[in-house]
Amino acid sequence: MLAERTPIVLSNWKMNKTVNQSLDYLANLMRETGSQGRRMEIILCVPFSLIKIMADKLDGPSLIAVSGQNVHWEDWGAYTGEISAPMLADLGAQFCMIGHSERRKYFAETDEMVNRKALALLKSGVRPIVCIGETREERQLELTINILEKQLRVCFNRFSASDLEQTVILYEPRWAIGTGNVANSDQIAEAHHYIRQELQRLFSPPSADRTRIIYGGSVTPDNIAAISKIEDVDGVGVGGASLDLPNFLKIVNAIPTP
Ligand code: 13P
Repeated sequence: MLAERTPIVLSNWKMNKTVNQSLDYLANLMRETGSQGRRMEIILCVPFSLIKIMADKLDGPSLIAVSGQNVHWEDWGAYTGEISAPMLADLGAQFCMIGHSERRKYFAETDEMVNRKALALLKSGVRPIVCIGETREERQLELTINILEKQLRVCFNRFSASDLEQTVILYEPRWAIGTGNVANSDQIAEAHHYIRQELQRLFSPPSADRTRIIYGGSVTPDNIAAISKIEDVDGVGVGGASLDLPNFLKIVNAIPTP
């Protein structure tokens, strides 16, 4: 990790937790991390139903930020069941995840949609967390770099360098999510190095060097030490292992901070 990039530990709750469970988790997380004075960001990606009550508890400087897990690209209109970027900003979300592999798999989300969503978020002052990564089949066919090249080109279309720097990139190989099959250190290093290089080419070396690229997919307390040592890895995105707070705290505490 480069000293000037603040590390991120992201917890993706997916479709889990009630109001009471979320408030309990947050109060304990704030108590455990509040006095640490560490330079890191803890981003909790929670269901829409929890954003406002959690963001209200975080009024003031905190290591912790609340994020959505999805957004629509229009600001309002006849899109039943959807929520927009201005609505997320109004609820107090500082970030929003887009293009997660479960959105791509179950809701047919494409790179073009991710790009429209990212631009809508930036317009409303909500920072995008853009998820990219290859399927198992694409890796077996040695197409990983081609897939990443296309995802970066399309998802970041019409981005300025400053838009890029506001954005977090979450590299999550789809075959590693929720499977227990974490990518190995060489696979992670190669993908992160490629992503940074490609951003340098698409934008500029200083902007690419200021952008956080984090890894997700079967991260646990057992593999966090090895993952966080890899160059160009600026933190992690954790699903299953973050639902239980003591487990998540083991991961938070294992992240080296500058
Ligand atoms: P798991 O940590 O359960 O593999 O999920 C990763 C993820 O989807 C984070 O966004």
